[in-house]
Amino acid sequence: MNLPNLVEARKRTNSKVNKVNYKLDDNYLNIGNGKTYYVKTYGCQMNEHDTENIEGLLDSIGFIKNSEMENADIVILNTCSIRENAHNKAFGMLGRLKHLKEERPNLIIGVCGCMAQEEVVVNEILAKYRHVNFVFGTHHLQDLPKLIYENMDNSKTKIDVYSIEGDVVEGLPVKRANSFKAYVNIIYGCDKFCTYCIVPYTRGKQRSRKMEDILSEVNELKNNGCVEVTLLGQNVNAYGKDLNLGYDLADLLENVAKTNVPRVRFITSHPWDFTDHMIDVIRKYPNIMNYIHLPIQSGSNRILKLMGRRYTREDYKILFNKLREIPNVSITTDIIVGFPGETEKDFLDTLDIVNYCKYDGAFTFIYSPRVGTPAAKLYENDKTTLEEKEHRLYRLNELINDYSLESNKRMLNNIYPVLVEGKSNKDEMMFGYTETNKLVNFKGSNNLVGKIVKIKILDAKSFSLDGELVE
Ligand code: 5AD
Ligand code: SF4
Repeated sequence: MNLPNLVEARKRTNSKVNKVNYKLDDNYLNIGNGKTYYVKTYGCQMNEHDTENIEGLLDSIGFIKNSEMENADIVILNTCSIRENAHNKAFGMLGRLKHLKEERPNLIIGVCGCMAQEEVVVNEILAKYRHVNFVFGTHHLQDLPKLIYENMDNSKTKIDVYSIEGDVVEGLPVKRANSFKAYVNIIYGCDKFCTYCIVPYTRGKQRSRKMEDILSEVNELKNNGCVEVTLLGQNVNAYGKDLNLGYDLADLLENVAKTNVPRVRFITSHPWDFTDHMIDVIRKYPNIMNYIHLPIQSGSNRILKLMGRRYTREDYKILFNKLREIPNVSITTDIIVGFPGETEKDFLDTLDIVNYCKYDGAFTFIYSPRVGTPAAKLYENDKTTLEEKEHRLYRLNELINDYSLESNKRMLNNIYPVLVEGKSNKDEMMFGYTETNKLVNFKGSNNLVGKIVKIKILDAKSFSLDGELVE
């Protein structure tokens, strides 16, 4: 049993992060033969991409993907810890799985992802959800074949979670959700420790992949017809800092752009590490998309300080103005309302900066206390009612939606390249994304999926655009 420990997970050491090349142990080669799997994913793109590795690993040992959980032989929940509702969804699913296991006692259930790194969660699983076969953390995906092999007898719940991050593993099998667009990890973990955030605990210390490994992955994707790569990290702008090899995100972006993959995206940026050199590179290469996700979290300097964000609203505005100079750029953000002790005046500062930045879009959240983080202690004395926080969120969303609509309306009657991703819910409608990451619906056929087409925008809403194919 290796149990998680958030206090251990907070520690950062100078110990060197090793690169390890994954190799499947022959013992596990066929353990899934004749069996099917279903992986349920919660949370961010990092988790979506981990699921692509988990599915790749399961395929490599003989399992076959099942589109229905109800009759799969193994079900894995890849969980998210970022807010309480993500927790609740995963526990709700564990409740459903209990019934499924009563009907089919041979069902194997695994839990992984960020929740697996939290002792409160693991203790609850051990106390109330004994139908779970094994729990494994975010640092050791590569051990999945071994874990399955050892737990197929269904005897007890095995916990295998490490609170100290492991190596950077290269060469894990991957089953990509799409052939034309792909996620590519560039940096794991986070060292920022914003006081509300659980991620630095669940994902460990900042570890960059070597530039040559990233470039070889991108080149291979491109050679296989991939049109869009998204470089992934909790804080991509910190890329390379831990390697001390003399390169950073600007150098990486430049080299990825030079592979000539048609679209390069990168998420998520932290204002603290955004350099002028990075902005120059984004401007210079047309295949680096003019879309920046730049979380502000709050517009109040007092709250930013309590959040440990390392910038003031004034610093943010300076960076924002530089980014706005990128031609036709679209900038989105994340905002938390109701951080412990946030006053109406603090909140008005947030509305004020939204009025200043006129974001193209934003993800907005009510603060959710995460056990073990510094802000959770402040929350114990928080006097603001949930009702008030919900009202603030409502007011914020109204403003955000007005600006998104305004930004979308500026696109009316213009023609934009759109990467077609699939069929919309509506009949005969397809959907795709512009370079600036705006969702566009249009009439077209399935054979356009994976292609970049020209679309004239005819109607603008807050969250999407309608258009028509012009060629
Ligand atoms: N409560 C609410 N929102 C949070 N986020 C991170 N932690 C919390 C929390 N405890 C938000 C931040 C972050 C986004 C991914 O989730 O806005 O940028
Ligand atoms: Fe969390 Fe802050 Fe790191 Fe983002 S930068 S993952 S909000 S600690």
